[in-house]
Amino acid sequence: MDTYLQGRQIFESQCAPCHGRTGRGDGEWAEGVTTKPRNFRKGIFKYRTTPMGFLPTTDDLLRTIRNGVSGTMMPTFNKLPDDDLRAAIAYVRGFSRKWDRAENFTDPIPPPPIPDWFSETEKRKVHAATGATTFQQFCFVCHGNGGKGDGPGSKGLLDVWENPIVPADLTQEHHHSGDSPADLFRTISLGLDGTPMVGFRQLLKPEQIWDLIAFIRSVQKE
Ligand code: HEC
Ligand code: HEC
Repeated sequence: MDTYLQGRQIFESQCAPCHGRTGRGDGEWAEGVTTKPRNFRKGIFKYRTTPMGFLPTTDDLLRTIRNGVSGTMMPTFNKLPDDDLRAAIAYVRGFSRKWDRAENFTDPIPPPPIPDWFSETEKRKVHAATGATTFQQFCFVCHGNGGKGDGPGSKGLLDVWENPIVPADLTQEHHHSGDSPADLFRTISLGLDGTPMVGFRQLLKPEQIWDLIAFIRSVQKE
């Protein structure tokens, strides 16, 4: 089958009930949902290995679609053949002109290796204490003191799709953007496009980001 037709068939049967037939995130299952299905018309994506403002890679989209987004309605599609997922991705790209312009593409930024101290409880405590100070300075305003998402700047925030959004409660067991240290590094470094969660790559050194991750782990529920 032609890739376009294959993609349309997958999209309309598996994705449109939430994302809408025209990709506006307004499918019939989207009504009254807190975290709305993505509107693909702006070509803005949260879960990327690319810097802020750039399109995600195909692998980024495959990861999101295969694994789903924990804590939202976005399901896992790990049983659909790779070929179908790629066709669906090609179809999703058709919803925004951003995908036609070379300047919106760039190489992914791989996370640095996890420092050795991360697996050593006592050393990690020391790093978590340093991370707490950095958190107070850069994250507290939204995520609050203990990371519960209740900072003084947490109210009345909107995402770029004009839906209300709240800072993540970092004490929760699972994070939308992934739970591994490397996932957290990516989220903090590169941000979640379209939301107030900007990337801190230019502001914080990798060591400071690892300290923050140690702090987040220390407040997280088991
Ligand atoms: C039951 C509802 C539902 C279905 C079905 C669904 N999605 Fe989603 N999808 C969501 C929600 C909700 C989000 C927003 C998650 C978030 O903002 O964290 C989302 C987000 C996404 C994203 C955006 C990720 C990013 O980085 O911003 C992509 C891409 C995506 N879905 C693709 C698909 C594809 C392809 C299908 C069909 C194979 C599909 N979705 C089916 C609910 C759904
Ligand atoms: C201007 C407000 C703001 C600031 C400052 C901010 N965040 Fe966020 N953060 C958010 C919002 C809003 C979300 C939720 C995004 C979403 O739901 O898609 C978020 C999400 C996150 C997530 C993802 C959680 C998940 O479920 O995937 C992590 C991790 C995170 N923030 C860490 C940090 C750290 C560490 C700092 C400081 C270096 C920080 N944030 C600074 C607003 C902020």
